[in-house]
Amino acid sequence: MSSQYRNKTESIVKKILLLSWLLSFTATCFTHTNTTITILGTGYVGLVTGACLADISPNNTKVICADIDEKKIRHLNNNHIPIYEKDLEEIVTRNISRETLLFTYNIPMAIQQADIVIIAVGTPTNNDGVSDLSYFKSALKTIAQNLTETTKIIVIKSTVPIGTCNKIPAILDRYNVSPKSYKIVFNPEFLREGTAVQDFMNTDRIVIGTKSKKAIECMKMLYQPFIDKQIPFIVTDPTSAEIVKYASNNFLALKLSFINEIANLCDATNGDIATITQAVGLDPRINPHFLQPGPGFGGSCLPKDTLALTTIAKKYKVPLQTIDAAIKANKYQKKLSLKKLKTIMPNIEGKTVAILGLAFKADTDDIRYSPAIPLIKKLVKQKTKIKVYDPAAMENMKHIFPDITYCSTSYDAIKESDALIILTDWQEFKQLDIEKISTLMSEKIIVDMRNILSTKEMNTFLFRYATIGNHQY
Ligand code: UGA
Repeated sequence: MSSQYRNKTESIVKKILLLSWLLSFTATCFTHTNTTITILGTGYVGLVTGACLADISPNNTKVICADIDEKKIRHLNNNHIPIYEKDLEEIVTRNISRETLLFTYNIPMAIQQADIVIIAVGTPTNNDGVSDLSYFKSALKTIAQNLTETTKIIVIKSTVPIGTCNKIPAILDRYNVSPKSYKIVFNPEFLREGTAVQDFMNTDRIVIGTKSKKAIECMKMLYQPFIDKQIPFIVTDPTSAEIVKYASNNFLALKLSFINEIANLCDATNGDIATITQAVGLDPRINPHFLQPGPGFGGSCLPKDTLALTTIAKKYKVPLQTIDAAIKANKYQKKLSLKKLKTIMPNIEGKTVAILGLAFKADTDDIRYSPAIPLIKKLVKQKTKIKVYDPAAMENMKHIFPDITYCSTSYDAIKESDALIILTDWQEFKQLDIEKISTLMSEKIIVDMRNILSTKEMNTFLFRYATIGNHQY
């Protein structure tokens, strides 16, 4: 067979497969060909999920991102993305012009039109350590009030306490909703802030927790491009899917606290953490990811999900001693940057300290549970002058610390400072001109909590330089 003929045949086969898939989907999932997906909540998860689903879906699919925050929706409709997330703006713009993505604060309309309603509202920690479900319950109430005759698939993306999905029918029942008008799915997300678009497009697994066959078919339709690429599509019950989400984030937290403690041990013994993580990470049972020591894990997920899981486990009288230890180790780690600074400069009162990195990690503007917050609080208490710089998170930090000095570049922050603390590994921090810094600082002291600078250069320019376990021989 000539290659031209073979290509033509392959292309026809592909078209037939696509057509049969579309027809089978229409037959088993919905009774019409145009699909509408509504996402409730336009935070990091909702916005990225909505934009990416619109991008991977055929032209006859419409994604509606809905939020009660009218101001946010107006911004989004004017192409202004309220969060810093790589590649997101491009995808949003492309799908607005494709007419596959739209934004609204008319939540009832968005729900009524939907075949699939995805709940992606925030579930922050409440005073008891578990998730505050008030936004989630309010979303469910609005869904209940706007269910129509055709069965809607309600997909939960928000992280919720174990057992929540099983309680949803009872919640919806309060609004006299027919059980035939909806099907429930728990579909955890595994997106990291800063790389969320990339994580969505290159997902390594899709997990579906449901008791409904129709819902499984609809989820297959939603994620068909990934199924085509042989990405594992795991179907289980809702409770197991809820636990998958907690287990994933808690395992990552364990890994981080573990490697942070090994790095601290390197500091005491002159071991070299970079070589150790390289060598240990080569074992495929361990792998090299999530092995970079740092100033303690932050963000809206790992601190919240470790606390939630231990709190839930206590309720069931199941000890989760490893996670308790990871949380404790993380509290210690967050104090370490100041401890290291004081080892070099015991009296910090009246000194000027520069901080590079305010978000909880690089490539995001999110400051939730950022190690910078407790550090700045302590420095303020100890009467130091604080100059800070972050490429994306300064506006957010101004709400918490309006009175510290916000600088427009790293060098502005470093200029005339007595010490510099690096908390995140933005690319631009890795490229700092050390010779220039040596001329700008009043005293040459650097605490590098991400091990991003070169020890050799630090020695050349006579810095007093502290790292976490970075002792290259
Ligand atoms: C985390 C998970 O990684 C995602 O899979 C999950 O979907 C998400 O929570 C969520 O539940 O929504 P995220 O909070 O965005 O994502 O941030 P990570 O990239 O996981 O980083 C968490 C913390 O660990 C940060 O403070 C980061 O600086 C720190 N970290 C990460 C290290 O110190 N070293 C590493 O090697 C990796």
